[in-house]
Amino acid sequence: MGLEVIQMTTGKGYGKVIMFNEHFVVYGIPAIAGAIDRSTVATVEPCKAGCGKPFVPGLHLVDDRPATEGYKEDKIDQQRESVRLILEMMAIDPTKAPIRVHLGGDLKCASGIGASAASCTAMARALDRYYKLGLSDVEINRIAFEGEKGYHGTPSGLDNTVSTFGGLIWYVKGEPMTMEPFKVPKPVEIVMGNTGKVADTTAAVAGVRERRQADPERYGRIFVKAGTLVERARGSLEANDMGAIGKLMDENHRLLQEIEVSSPELDLLVDVARENGAIGAKMTGGGLGGNIVALTPGKRLQEKVARAIEEAGFEALRTRIG
Ligand code: MEV
Repeated sequence: MGLEVIQMTTGKGYGKVIMFNEHFVVYGIPAIAGAIDRSTVATVEPCKAGCGKPFVPGLHLVDDRPATEGYKEDKIDQQRESVRLILEMMAIDPTKAPIRVHLGGDLKCASGIGASAASCTAMARALDRYYKLGLSDVEINRIAFEGEKGYHGTPSGLDNTVSTFGGLIWYVKGEPMTMEPFKVPKPVEIVMGNTGKVADTTAAVAGVRERRQADPERYGRIFVKAGTLVERARGSLEANDMGAIGKLMDENHRLLQEIEVSSPELDLLVDVARENGAIGAKMTGGGLGGNIVALTPGKRLQEKVARAIEEAGFEALRTRIG
């Protein structure tokens, strides 16, 4: 009797937090984002009998990721398109030898935390290992970027880049994109507050585009401010100047309010965080729901802000950047 070779591969993608300039990054203005200590893990194995109905031809998906209520249901069509784009980009046709892909890990899916990018990266890595393609991180990132298009049409590439490379990065969209990893003197505690509202990044990005076209002068002025702000933010992060970083986060939130991507729930959570001592707070990610990020150096302040968010009836994630 021959031994059965159990072929099973895994891949990981990090969740992320955008510290400065979501949305502005879509227009070539630099952004700063960091990986958080939560990730999605994809596992690929051959599909044995009883795999059920395929998610896309030849690929069976078991999505066990923890998630905000309604998230997975809302995103299922986008997820299907994303998986299709990933397979196409990797030139994989699993129909002859069907596969089962399992998604898990400790990143709770929500808007604004990089869940879609994390799953694209994790899947690209696990598929790369399963089919022994030997891809580099740069190639994995390109595939994850392709997968992200399934979720939000014209992504800047920021989320998948953080998800693939981890750490804290300075990112400028372009051909080629600019990605500069940089360091903070020591990791900084942050709290992410989840409004519980699932939001559509495509709609948020499209809204900004329409409003910008309707009022190019006003938007031009706001975009210039965002460009100046992010340069100062990088210097403040590198110098570990918490007061300055916090002020710039507050200012960045105001600019995001001006381009109308915040929401009453996000503004409420930002206020709760600030009232409870956060050095700065802003919405993070696509907005219109999803998450905020609060700067809370030190475990004590982090706990205080996280508790206040929980007492207000929302979920808080204690994590850090750097
Ligand atoms: C979404 O996480 C970030 C946005 O800037 C869109 C993008 O960068 O593609 C809103």
